[in-house]
Amino acid sequence: MSTSNSAILAVHDLEKTFGSLVAARDITVSVPAEQTVGVIGANGAGKTTFINMITGHLTPSKGSIWFEDKEITGKPSREITRLGISRSFQVAQIFPSLTVFENMRIAAAIARCSGGVLGNISTPVHSGAATVEAEATIDLFQIGRYRDTPANALPQGVRKLLDIGMAVVGWPRLLLLDEPTSGISVEEKFDLMNVVMSALKTRKITVLFVEHDMEIVARFADRVLAFYDGTVIADGTPTETLDNPRVQELISGVRLKTSTGRPGHA
Ligand SMILES: Nc1ncnc2c1ncn2[C@@H]1O[C@H](COP(=O)(O)OP(=O)(O)O)[C@@H](O)[C@H]1O
Ligand SMILES: [Mg+2]
Repeated sequence: MSTSNSAILAVHDLEKTFGSLVAARDITVSVPAEQTVGVIGANGAGKTTFINMITGHLTPSKGSIWFEDKEITGKPSREITRLGISRSFQVAQIFPSLTVFENMRIAAAIARCSGGVLGNISTPVHSGAATVEAEATIDLFQIGRYRDTPANALPQGVRKLLDIGMAVVGWPRLLLLDEPTSGISVEEKFDLMNVVMSALKTRKITVLFVEHDMEIVARFADRVLAFYDGTVIADGTPTETLDNPRVQELISGVRLKTSTGRPGHA
């Protein structure tokens, strides 16, 4: 099976059914390295199912997934992580009573133990290595002033940065973010995404992010995939996808933005 050599991720004819429900179908997408891909679509459109198949949390019913020209279809999530694909841990996986540094150091140690990218480095892993990676990632995500704050005392935006930082501390090459700005106020979203996206650019990480705020999508994505009823109905630059009449008809929030120049909600 051939895939484009320039693609870091290629999915071909992907499908996922749950009994008689078709949650995802006919998905064929190829993503070049270092691209930032926004994923939009109504609730139930299949966005999370798509991401879960890439990370190995769901096994596709049909089709194939290739990462760096290696087929990963149906592999266990642990192995997919080890190959260099990460996702945000979701806030639930942060230890609430431990500090930012302690959480980050644990994530760094796990990334090393599980033989992630860093674990493959042939030099011996010394005990300070996870500490060094944790400190560097805390700096990269600009949360140093919260280094010694317990996670349960963090502002919501800082907790999100910790969450995403923990997914990045092991140096993945592909990162999947499912609604990274959910629960964040409109005023804080842009600052949060600025920090996240500049951190990911610094580490040359390819990213797919699911996002409902079309202004965020237009500002940060190089390319936008629009999902409807389990499949991709538009794939192009943010302007191409958000101006697409079918997208405007079928996905709420898109038409409002385009017709008024304002986001679809206050
Ligand atoms: N584990 C599951 N079992 C049964 N149905 C599921 C499961 N996960 C998702 N679905 C269904 O698949 C469809 C797509 O869901 P999902 O991928 O979560 O959509 P989105 O993330 O775009 O909101 C929905 O109809 C949802 O109810
Ligand atoms: Mg979802």
